[in-house]
Amino acid sequence: MKEIKLSCVVGVCRYPLGMSGGQIQDEDISASSQWSESTAARYGRLDFEEGDGAWCPEITVEPDSLKEFLQIDLRSLHFITLVGTQGRHAGGIGNEFAQMYKIKYSRDSSRWISWRNRQGKQVIEGNRNAYDIVLKDLEPPIIARFVRFMPVSDHSMNVCMRVELYGCEWLDGLVSYNAPAGEQMSLEGQPVHLNDSVYDGAVIYSMTEGLGQLTDGMCGLDDFTHSHVYNVWPGYDYVGWTNESFPNGYVEIMFEFDRTRNFTTMKVHCNNMFMKHVKAFRQVVCYFRSEADWEATPLSFSPVVDDVNLSARFVTISMANHMASAIKCQFYFAEAWMMFSEITFQSDTAMYNTTLAPPKTGSSPPTRDDPTHKIDDSNTRILIVCLVAIILILVAIIVIILWRQVWQKMLEKASRRMLDDELTASLSLQSETFAYSHNNPTSSSAPSEQESSSTYERIFPLGPDYQEPSQLIRMLPEFSHTSKDAVTPLFAQDGVPHYAEADIVNLQGVTGGNTYAVPALTMDLLSGKDVAVEEFPRKLLTFKEKLGEGQFGEVHLCEAEGMKEFIDEDFSFNISDNQPVLVAVKMLRADANKNARNDFLKEIKIMSRLKDPNIIRLLAVCICSDPLCMITEYMENGDLNQFLSRHEPEGQMALISNVTTVGYSDLRYMATQIASGMRYLSSLNFVHRDLATRNCLVGKNYTIKIADFGMSRNLYSGDYYRIQGRAVLPIRWMSWESILLGKFTTASDVWAFGVTLWETLTFCKEQPYSQLTDEQVIENTGEFFRDQKRQIYLPQPVLCPDSLYKIMLCCWRRNTKERPSFQEIHRVLLESQA
Ligand code: ADE
Repeated sequence: MKEIKLSCVVGVCRYPLGMSGGQIQDEDISASSQWSESTAARYGRLDFEEGDGAWCPEITVEPDSLKEFLQIDLRSLHFITLVGTQGRHAGGIGNEFAQMYKIKYSRDSSRWISWRNRQGKQVIEGNRNAYDIVLKDLEPPIIARFVRFMPVSDHSMNVCMRVELYGCEWLDGLVSYNAPAGEQMSLEGQPVHLNDSVYDGAVIYSMTEGLGQLTDGMCGLDDFTHSHVYNVWPGYDYVGWTNESFPNGYVEIMFEFDRTRNFTTMKVHCNNMFMKHVKAFRQVVCYFRSEADWEATPLSFSPVVDDVNLSARFVTISMANHMASAIKCQFYFAEAWMMFSEITFQSDTAMYNTTLAPPKTGSSPPTRDDPTHKIDDSNTRILIVCLVAIILILVAIIVIILWRQVWQKMLEKASRRMLDDELTASLSLQSETFAYSHNNPTSSSAPSEQESSSTYERIFPLGPDYQEPSQLIRMLPEFSHTSKDAVTPLFAQDGVPHYAEADIVNLQGVTGGNTYAVPALTMDLLSGKDVAVEEFPRKLLTFKEKLGEGQFGEVHLCEAEGMKEFIDEDFSFNISDNQPVLVAVKMLRADANKNARNDFLKEIKIMSRLKDPNIIRLLAVCICSDPLCMITEYMENGDLNQFLSRHEPEGQMALISNVTTVGYSDLRYMATQIASGMRYLSSLNFVHRDLATRNCLVGKNYTIKIADFGMSRNLYSGDYYRIQGRAVLPIRWMSWESILLGKFTTASDVWAFGVTLWETLTFCKEQPYSQLTDEQVIENTGEFFRDQKRQIYLPQPVLCPDSLYKIMLCCWRRNTKERPSFQEIHRVLLESQA
């Protein structure tokens, strides 16, 4: 409530006026009496412990005797909004305080006015102990130069006081206004009292010699029947008059000032509830009196009469630098009623200062609306300076970012052009290099080292930014001298968006890493509908065992009852009626962050649309409540890596060791299914980015389905290379361009397929390039890029016929365009089965 009322006061006028800060001089503090020299008035400063610790009057305070007071002369008029009191503590010796007190004030030291609150009560509750400061808002505030604190007691007691006044200097200079008494309106049979209830002058038929609601710093509401003040009557905030009482058609208000001033504006806060016959005035005519005479020509101003906007408003009247010590204004009715809640004057204060008593020691207290005196204004200035500084910094940041982007684009363009040229040149040179030669895959006519290293420098010029995989470039000798910020231009060589360009959805599985990378185009196609599978009642799931665990949750083997009803017909033939089916339930941890949750939901969206016999099928979801779950088909033989590790190739050794065997044709059959699943994904422009045996699941009869378990399964942590706390990359499965350029495309999935095929044919008995460290693998990637016959290829597995190794080598061709498509791979594998 208070804030809104005070909002009408210019600035927040609640500054200590100088009792505790010392700006009020000792000689300006006086008292009716003092107990002793050491309890004189000057010791009545709040928070001071001088003398005997407070002002104490000579005699005890008796009930109903109002003889004693502590008086402060502020030397000029002040707007006082708050008072503070404290007793005498004196380091624990004193225990005198005023339980209650009254305030009297004066603007001229001759007429003293008893302060009353808005309900008419004079007594203010004081202190309960000798040490605590008790602050009391003055509602209404007072405009005064002299203030008296008068201790009150309901029994005879010794009283001591320390006090402070809070407010600001009153530079309106108005000492009184005289106006016709406010009237009473009858609204729907209810009285609305529009009198000036806090007027501190005489009120008989008219108000004389006082200040009141029009200067209390409180603006009325749009609806004059309401008030911010608690427990008051309708119309409280306004002083109002009806034109019936004013045959001349105007209300005259006379304003008296402390001295002659140079007036710039007058602001009148008016109600404009025209539906209730209240409007701001239609004209005001003001007369000015300087010295003894009234000026002959008045100032007239006619605001636009507003029949549209009901809100109460300040009407500002320019006073055209009239000099006056009194102003008389006639406000003409525009409607049956006219209501004002506040009138303020702005005048030349510089002149005011010269005529005032010389400034006291210390800084002068702030004023209610004088820009030269307000702490508020200096705060505002500081605020503005800060805001301007922040804006400048932001602009600078934006400019730097834009500049970097433009610079990067230029570099990208330039390097793309260069690389195109370079590739065209070197590819035409190397047509045999890339055209796979089985017996001698590295028999290329390699460009000279000189040539290729200069190529790198042009392909990877220095720049202010870099992409994650390109960090690896720095591990290559050619780039070891480049700055930490070496940039890798990212370019889409074959029109397929790569991860830096496309809106790739990085599906974070519960077990960690990304599932499928979906170019924006595909996402758009997919985003037509939401989740394309049913919500499954989680109560129909029975937990069997934990299949896996990752950063974002767990995968459980569960029995699902009545699953058939919830899944697509094209799949439900797999499932027998009424029999609970085994399903894998991937659950997001309840405490997963928003990103993980969003990724999980995205993964659901995408997976729900992937329908292929060789892609793990999303059967249903539980997303109506937490924890979010994906229900996928269960593959009883786990992942292909573990499956093959448990098996041996058919042959003598297996016969001896009595382990289960897998024949070559089964391996080829499984590889064909992987190729088929990938053919499906690539037809949708999906880039898997982590194809490997660990991400393929094995069901009955060597059926294979591609999945993705992310990168956080402990079992396979060795398959991922962590670039200094940043990306985690399956470098041994990654193409050179994925590692060095951050390009992930179907062609790089083809590369990974080659490695997966190699794993399959080695029964996953060793990691690809097991004899190389991660760093050596990256170096080898550089050799693939340089293509100087120094790159090391994975060797032909013992069991692997040439035809299959040929496929692998084709998958690892340097030129992405020369790698086979999944369709081709699938066809070749199928044919080799025949
Ligand atoms: N997630 C983890 N293990 C799985 C399995 N065997 N089948 C399906 N999803 C799985």
